[in-house]
Amino acid sequence: MSMDPERIRPSDLESAGEDGVNTAPNPTMGEIIAARFSRRDLLRGSLAVAAISAVIGDRALAASPGQAQGVSSFDFTEIEAGVDETHHVADGYEAQILLRWGDPIFPDAPEFDPLNQSAEKQARQFGYNSDFIGFFQIENAPDRGLLVANHEYTNEELMFPGVGIQDTKSAAFSKMTKELVDIEIAAHGGAVVELARSGTQWSVVKDSPYNRRITADTEMTLSGPAAGHARLKTSADPAGTKVLGTINNCAGGITPWGTWLSAEENVHGYFWNTVPESHAEAANYKRLGIGTPAYAWGKFHDRFDIEKEPNEPNRFGWIVEIDPFDPNSVPVKRTALGRFKHEGAAGIINKDGRYVVYQGDDERFDYVYKFVTDGTVNTGDRKANFGLLDSGTLYVAKYDADGRGQWLPLVYGQGPLTEANGFTSQADVLIETRRAGDLLGATKMDRPEDVEASPQTNRVYVMLTNNTRRKDDQIDDANPRANNRFGHIIEMIPDEEDHAATGFAWEVLLRCGDSSVADVGATFSSETTKDGWFGMPDNCVIDGKGRLWVSTDGNSAKATGRSDGLWAVETDGERRGTSRHFFRVPAGAEMCGPFFTADDESLFLAVQHPGESEDDKNPASFESPMTRWPDFKEGVPPRPSVLVVTKKGGGVIA
Ligand code: FEO
Ligand code: CA
Ligand code: CA
Ligand code: CA
Repeated sequence: MSMDPERIRPSDLESAGEDGVNTAPNPTMGEIIAARFSRRDLLRGSLAVAAISAVIGDRALAASPGQAQGVSSFDFTEIEAGVDETHHVADGYEAQILLRWGDPIFPDAPEFDPLNQSAEKQARQFGYNSDFIGFFQIENAPDRGLLVANHEYTNEELMFPGVGIQDTKSAAFSKMTKELVDIEIAAHGGAVVELARSGTQWSVVKDSPYNRRITADTEMTLSGPAAGHARLKTSADPAGTKVLGTINNCAGGITPWGTWLSAEENVHGYFWNTVPESHAEAANYKRLGIGTPAYAWGKFHDRFDIEKEPNEPNRFGWIVEIDPFDPNSVPVKRTALGRFKHEGAAGIINKDGRYVVYQGDDERFDYVYKFVTDGTVNTGDRKANFGLLDSGTLYVAKYDADGRGQWLPLVYGQGPLTEANGFTSQADVLIETRRAGDLLGATKMDRPEDVEASPQTNRVYVMLTNNTRRKDDQIDDANPRANNRFGHIIEMIPDEEDHAATGFAWEVLLRCGDSSVADVGATFSSETTKDGWFGMPDNCVIDGKGRLWVSTDGNSAKATGRSDGLWAVETDGERRGTSRHFFRVPAGAEMCGPFFTADDESLFLAVQHPGESEDDKNPASFESPMTRWPDFKEGVPPRPSVLVVTKKGGGVIA
């Protein structure tokens, strides 16, 4: 992850300066408490903590590590935290590299040749930078399944020889040609790849009829309340129902009816120019940070130039549903789930049969959402569920100071979501979900990433990656640290274990960072070793035993003295808050995935942007990356890859 303040890469939200902004006047918890204490009482540091604790109890603010005892529920030997050029997995486990950027996934696909890449070749090869990965068992074939992988974004400086970083004000995309842009477009989107297992070894089935590439040019439809709305119409699509492509697909989810949900996140970076202040979309686009391109696509393709196609950005920022079992199926953007910087779309079948999708909006001071379907999941007929996500209620979270919280419905005509505030239909509410959340007074969070519900306990885990812009007077019970460099994790408990309920209880499960440094205020348990703590939680997964695994984005030699990786986190009993290090990525990379097979014997992981530099003065490049993982061949750049971890000799992981 580059820390160059000049960079505008949409993945680098912490270093980017021009992203979406939440200037909504919603009171932060700090302001609510400040209203009850004089400003002088609310000095920074421990006095402020003591004062706030006196009002709301110290349950969520406890700064000292808990005393953990008892036996770990995880059975593996922890790896050592650190940074080097390769990956590391716990002893007794094997990490097999399954799919690298550029690997052919069709029988006729060309082999990867980084010096002779083309858009045509790229569209037949595995794409770049997988974030979400999921796996679907094929019925009656226990050793076969479909891997689905998002291809979130591209790193031009590592992909293309002689190019270097292009998304800075000084570089100004000067070396980006149409040929390179078209390779980027083909490297985005996602892939479906059939895998076969023999013992503990997995392999790619190159000639599978299921294999598919989806790119930023693949035709998709829009459905749900915003489909066909005037604000979604373009010169190429006068009906407002057909879009070419999906972009910046971060995390996602798989549904119980066998579809893949892919979350469009930092879509603002793909558009050139913007609309004038007086334009009807001006506030909408500003709230999403549109107008600061991180890619040169708009230079060569009119639809990515807002001056030429002013509505095109409204067609991105949605949840896309894809049927991986039909390679000819048309992906569908489900507008009922709202439009923002969707981090993920992990869901759960509620006890009444309805489907509930939890979602984070990954921006500083943005919100946590959930969507509850009107209908119930049909477990007997998968296709009966294909329109289920088109009608339901979208809610935004408000975390109150007493460990209670409310889900506020984003419904046109209710509360402030009316003509008086510029909303003339539910389509308007969905197109400008963030602004609707502002008006409802949602709680401004420290960059909500993955949100996952445990089918075993019905508790919900929210990864809040960091927010160094939160000031002392902006802290609140749910975002308790100013200059929150290392992030935290919130646990939510739906009332009566009902995911459709509008009330919930919540608690901070962990404040992340080095617990041996008092100023950091981390709350890992005392059983957590020097290798066990982490910063910047990002993706997460619940395994078959209901246990939480957290992957990270932003650890580095400079930030935390360790690479990103995967940690196993105890959430129950005396060892709650204990974390243990299972896997780490090579230098410059971020840890994505993770995803367990249903038998917990295989764990899929994705390594994003290996070789990226965090040193502004020594930016990494094709010629000079931080690592050449995983090929380690001179002249071959690092390659983002999907891995699978199995236990040597077989068996359940950890
Ligand atoms: Fe794509 Fe929020 O990381
Ligand atoms: Ca994530
Ligand atoms: Ca990420
Ligand atoms: Ca992230």
